[in-house]
Amino acid sequence: MIYFDNSATTPPHPQVVDVVRKAMESYYGNPSSLHQKGVEAESILKQARAIAAQYLKCKPAEIVFTSGGTESNNAAIKGVAFQYQNRGKHIITTQVEHPAVYDVCRQLEEWGFSVTYLPVNGEGRVSPDDVKKAIRPDTILVSVMHVNNELGTIQPIHEIGGFLKLYPKIVFHVDAVQSFGKVPIQLKEWGIDLLSISAHKFYGPRGAGILYKREGLKIQPLLMGGGQEGGIRSGTENVPAIAGMAKAIRLLEEQAGKEAGYLSSLTRQMREGLAAIPGCIINTPEKGAAPHIVNLSFPGMKAEVLLHDLEKRGFLVSTKSACSTKSNEPSRVLMATGMERERALSALRISVGRENSPDEVKQFLAALADSVKRIRPYMNV
Ligand SMILES: Cc1ncc(COP(=O)(O)O)c(C=O)c1O
Repeated sequence: MIYFDNSATTPPHPQVVDVVRKAMESYYGNPSSLHQKGVEAESILKQARAIAAQYLKCKPAEIVFTSGGTESNNAAIKGVAFQYQNRGKHIITTQVEHPAVYDVCRQLEEWGFSVTYLPVNGEGRVSPDDVKKAIRPDTILVSVMHVNNELGTIQPIHEIGGFLKLYPKIVFHVDAVQSFGKVPIQLKEWGIDLLSISAHKFYGPRGAGILYKREGLKIQPLLMGGGQEGGIRSGTENVPAIAGMAKAIRLLEEQAGKEAGYLSSLTRQMREGLAAIPGCIINTPEKGAAPHIVNLSFPGMKAEVLLHDLEKRGFLVSTKSACSTKSNEPSRVLMATGMERERALSALRISVGRENSPDEVKQFLAALADSVKRIRPYMNV
């Protein structure tokens, strides 16, 4: 099987697997215990925190370990909402956020908060001007993702963070789950207060993530208990997964940015090949997109049918066109770009990773072209 679903998750690197196994076997102490085993586990956490902080160019105390992107987003958004609700109850976000932001905002609306979901342009990009115009005296939070998980579009985080510096009472949260390790992030320069990261998107273990929280920013903890992670995230830390995540960050460092160039070369090759397949529309913008995602459509064809045909041929890709195979609802994200329903319903997401090769891309393009040719006569096109 050739795996082109690296946005959904990445295969853990063998060295990550080794580190996780070793940590499970050797560092099983509770990091809060005072004895030798606890101290050993605590020292693993300390090293992992230092590695993450060095990569993000922040202080170790600004790193909060979580169970992944969903938790980091919930902790950030609800944490700000609950902390600052006396100051105001207005939140600004976009129509194209991952459900781990979008549905949290919907839930907060049920709890009395007011949320502005900003529109995006045809490339799925929000306008910094629109963010500015949406600010109200009661705005407490702006939450905008860095890279969109369906389209790969990069949002203007730098510009948004830049003018938000003029509003020190508005907290700026960025969901960087799809960008971390692939698109540069400058926490301080961009005025980011909270940032969400998930280890399984960069060859680390599932169930581990980071919430970067700027020093001095107060948020209400989602989880109360033993007071771990500076009181922001109680619960005994998942030391093996955190150690594995730190290893995955180290491996990103070793790549020193070369990986993004490699992924870009694969997606470029993919785009060139797709352009030659009759009926194919590429939904991911050519400029200002992450290096690993290509979203495409064959309007009139059902994405799931193509996906399963490709699977039979040995290629794993993703569809975001429907919440489930039973539902016939197109993706909220794609519809927000103004895309026609037919095109959105036929969208496939191909996401490459460091393990893919140009030859695999070539094989995939040939299989896709053949698949479309064979299926098309049976579809409503
Ligand atoms: C943009 C974005 N945010 C959040 C998440 C959720 O991350 P996790 O799977 O670690 O909970 C994902 C995962 O697909 C994502 O793509």
